[in-house]
Amino acid sequence: MEMMLYLQLPPPLEFVSERIADPKALDTFRVNYQKFRCGGAQGAKGEVQQLLVSVHQTSEEKYEAEEKAYELAKDVRIDPMIDEGRFISAFERSKRMRSVVVVETGIVDALAARALDVIPRKCHRSSIYVVTDSVTDALYGDVVLDGLLGAGLGASKLVIPSETDASGENSTEMHKSLTTFSNLADQILAGGVDKRSCIVSLGGGVVNNICGYLASSIYRGLALVHVSTTFMGQVDAAIDFKQAVNHCANRIQSRTAPLVWGLLFFFTTAGCGKNLLGSYYPAATVVLDPSLLTTQSTRHRRNGLAEAAKHGMVHSTDLLDYIRAGNIDDPAYLDGVVRRTISVKVPTLTRYDESDFNEMAPQYGHAPAHAVEFLSWHGACNEPLLHGEAVAIGMCVSAEVAFIMGVCAESVVEEHYAIVEALGLPSCVPPELDLDKVIDKLSYDKHTLSGKPTMGLLVKMGKMYEKDGVYGQPVDADILREAFEINQDRAAK
Ligand SMILES: NC(=O)c1ccc[n+]([C@@H]2O[C@H](COP(=O)([O-])OP(=O)(O)OC[C@H]3O[C@@H](n4cnc5c(N)ncnc54)[C@H](O)[C@@H]3O)[C@@H](O)[C@H]2O)c1
Repeated sequence: MEMMLYLQLPPPLEFVSERIADPKALDTFRVNYQKFRCGGAQGAKGEVQQLLVSVHQTSEEKYEAEEKAYELAKDVRIDPMIDEGRFISAFERSKRMRSVVVVETGIVDALAARALDVIPRKCHRSSIYVVTDSVTDALYGDVVLDGLLGAGLGASKLVIPSETDASGENSTEMHKSLTTFSNLADQILAGGVDKRSCIVSLGGGVVNNICGYLASSIYRGLALVHVSTTFMGQVDAAIDFKQAVNHCANRIQSRTAPLVWGLLFFFTTAGCGKNLLGSYYPAATVVLDPSLLTTQSTRHRRNGLAEAAKHGMVHSTDLLDYIRAGNIDDPAYLDGVVRRTISVKVPTLTRYDESDFNEMAPQYGHAPAHAVEFLSWHGACNEPLLHGEAVAIGMCVSAEVAFIMGVCAESVVEEHYAIVEALGLPSCVPPELDLDKVIDKLSYDKHTLSGKPTMGLLVKMGKMYEKDGVYGQPVDADILREAFEINQDRAAK
């Protein structure tokens, strides 16, 4: 059988072309590599592995080399091919997905007039589920439902619990779980759904994240509209395609019986953590009404400010200056932070695949933060930490790491603490939190590769450290521990 190949060659990557000078041999490598990726010929696998081993020694380097080789080979089309008795083909899908972000004061009150613009047209004749939590429902549930019904849409409402945590703040974090996900899926499937149905997530970051995962899963993808009602949601959680629930969060009941659940946690949470189950799935529309933020507590607004400040620290000192100069109780300031943060974040989402900067920038401080936050909700701290509070701590720990690794000056570390504290956010890991547990929990972070957390580090405010075009830096366990210890000790002084 004749083998047909269509080659469209991008410029060869240096490390491969250095070793395979002959253009024909280079093409053969690329074809073999593609076969290897398609589960094809043994010979191809052998050749690829031999080259990768000859180039790089550590498994991490080999992985990176393989990724690069994939880049080199990905435009080779094999169409169709019989080789060594096997049929090999390949397919891919490159559907462009677009999220439209609408920031408009008063839009929620005016939904009867605006709903047909923000709900995708294809959904107008299908069932629409507004998913919200009990606290948001009491504030805005009926306004939104009535607005959708008033626009002639077939909407109904599902409410998940939200309650006061051990620190006295409202939160839905303890319900960001597979149990909630599954209950919602049951209700939506029982209530009636078709491929043009739409999920409207009405709430803060937790509801936005759960609904995103739900919308990506039911019928393998329903339309999603976020109506994000918290500062955290408006500056960050809803302006994203990352959707998730926590693993094991359904076991959290620390307020009702801290001792019993604390013990249960101790024996049962191996492998659990923040956002471990989820998908990359964009909302069709993100609707943001900054006037809703006035009903949030100051602590929750500061919580959102932490994520906005993160964007400023990582890549916009203008944003950071704006954030530092404002008053958290001023609605015009909240509105300004929302708009400015979105302007800074949106390009990183559109160009997400172009550089790991776009992946690491929104994750700044998050590797330590997720471990600390998750543990704080599972009885390891006196009180749970809100997500942005944990991120504030995580950014200070990251600055300590950067200093130990020689990436930044000590003044940059001090600047981190000064900014975070001036914004009214915690800067240090709670003293009662066992660092062994934190380090262990970090191993479940998705950016931990070959046992080492990969973290973005700052050279200075507004500039992330980069080495050979890579922004995610592997951090040794002893450096990470030292950074955590310095940070935790600082609180005691
Ligand atoms: N890229 C991402 O996907 C991303 C980014 C940032 C944060 N997050 C996630 O977001 C979550 C935190 O979000 P959050 O801080 O909004 O918490 P949350 O969703 O728990 O909301 C906090 C509380 O405020 C209530 N609430 C909502 N709107 C309100 C309003 N306008 N006025 C008064 N109360 C209101 C909620 O009912 C809840 O009780 C975390 O789970 C975090 O992981 C995700």
